[in-house]
Amino acid sequence: NDSAFDPVALFAWYDRHGRDLPWRHRWPALAPAYHVWLSEIMLQQTVVATVIPYFLDFTRRWPDVTALASAPLDDVLAAWAGLGYYARARNLHKAANKVAFELGGIFPADVGGLRDLPGIGPYTAGAISAIAFGQHSTVVDGNIERVLARQYAVTTPLPAAKVEISAIYAAIRPDQRPSDFPQALMDFANAVCTVKAPGCSSCPLATSCIAGRQGTAASFPVKTAKKPK
Ligand code: ADE
Repeated sequence: NDSAFDPVALFAWYDRHGRDLPWRHRWPALAPAYHVWLSEIMLQQTVVATVIPYFLDFTRRWPDVTALASAPLDDVLAAWAGLGYYARARNLHKAANKVAFELGGIFPADVGGLRDLPGIGPYTAGAISAIAFGQHSTVVDGNIERVLARQYAVTTPLPAAKVEISAIYAAIRPDQRPSDFPQALMDFANAVCTVKAPGCSSCPLATSCIAGRQGTAASFPVKTAKKPK
């Protein structure tokens, strides 16, 4: 009784249960790249609930990338206090300066251009190009990795499985709603396909989930055994 991964079922779930997060607020069609970029940098090592008040504070003080670039670095570092990993804040300010004063205030829309900005690696570049610009980029964070490792019962352990999981993402990525697709997967991972207690009994993607059908969802993703200390 198996079937192929069904993005329509995922979007139906997302339209009912997706999170209303401030950096997703659209203007006019997709969220501003400044908001998506700022949120992605903050979310690199910090959970959503902690990021929200910082995101709101930053965007109130510095409503656009030129305002942020024009702020003294010390003000940005002070506003960042509590988020940790201060290299992120220094790179944030550097990247803001590059966008504001070298790129005319316009964020690059493609992965290559985004990766030339300080603090942006392959995941973040994919996320910004998809979420803010609607590009069909590959966006695989730890949450999306978990969903796909279960759907396809990927037995290769992480981190080696990353290549395989990125290929799966590229193969199942639908043409419709490129900005929503990764965010729908993230919310689904967070609310249903959780780390310890996956909600397989009420899962909208159960029919395509190989690990779910085997009753082994919680054992994916497989990880390389940690070396004893
Ligand atoms: N983590 C990283 N990016 C995210 C996003 N856009 N929404 C929710 N969680 C995220």
